[in-house]
Amino acid sequence: MLKNITNTVDYINSKFNIQAKIGIVLGSGLNGLAKDITVQKTLLYKDIPNFPVSTVKGHEGKFLIGNIHQVEVVAMQGRFHYYEGYDMKEITFPVRVMKALGINTLILSNASGGINPNYTVGDIVFITDHINFFPEHPLRGKNEQSLGDRFPDMNEVYSNELIALAEQIALENNIKYQKGVYVGTQGPTFETPAEYRMFHKLGGDCVGMSTVPEAIVAHHSGMRCVAFSVITDLGEINGCGTIEKVSHEKVLKAANETEPKLCQLIKELVLHINTK
Ligand code: HPA
Repeated sequence: MLKNITNTVDYINSKFNIQAKIGIVLGSGLNGLAKDITVQKTLLYKDIPNFPVSTVKGHEGKFLIGNIHQVEVVAMQGRFHYYEGYDMKEITFPVRVMKALGINTLILSNASGGINPNYTVGDIVFITDHINFFPEHPLRGKNEQSLGDRFPDMNEVYSNELIALAEQIALENNIKYQKGVYVGTQGPTFETPAEYRMFHKLGGDCVGMSTVPEAIVAHHSGMRCVAFSVITDLGEINGCGTIEKVSHEKVLKAANETEPKLCQLIKELVLHINTK
């Protein structure tokens, strides 16, 4: 893995001398966030050595290097999901690469189903913690100590400091937000009503099919992480009524509608993050 990371980093650095400290992963229906980036260089995943290639509609496979105003960033337009058939090492490989490129702060975004009864479609959730329901762990196997500890502490995977900064920015810009626990599942099925009730009982506030693997690896590698989830559909949790049918199209539509607010939030966050 170390050799692969080095190969990939060498390739990327040969195309652009990266100084960025902030990386962004653009989730389902949130690709428009890329509009706020003045792109200096686009690398297609298919041209980057060792990068998996994205297969899902709505997830374009591009590695963007550019800036938001004066702040240099790299962004993944399209991520890899377990349900596509990749293993966890493949899904999280780009996070290892970002770390090796010098990124120390990772901003993740995704779409998810609302479990918390106070949530509505279009809400932006600041993820405070997660419950890992994926059947495979990204850190399983021989641990490479130079990448991180064998048994990582998981107390603050999502940086309290960055959540507090996001809250301040949201308040200043009149952006409604929620805070909550994200349940990560393998998909590709959405939840049954019974599964929604179970996740609710277990302490989940929203549920989706991504983010947890990347956040674990970012944390393992010592990066600061912050993650935003757009609620695109609601689960039935109180036994009253049926859930509205959910589809990938509906998820993309709802995420697209919230995109401008999330863009504004992430843009301001990037401009105010202290990357030291
Ligand atoms: N469940 C899982 N993943 C999702 C959902 C959901 O309801 N909505 C968007 N991604």
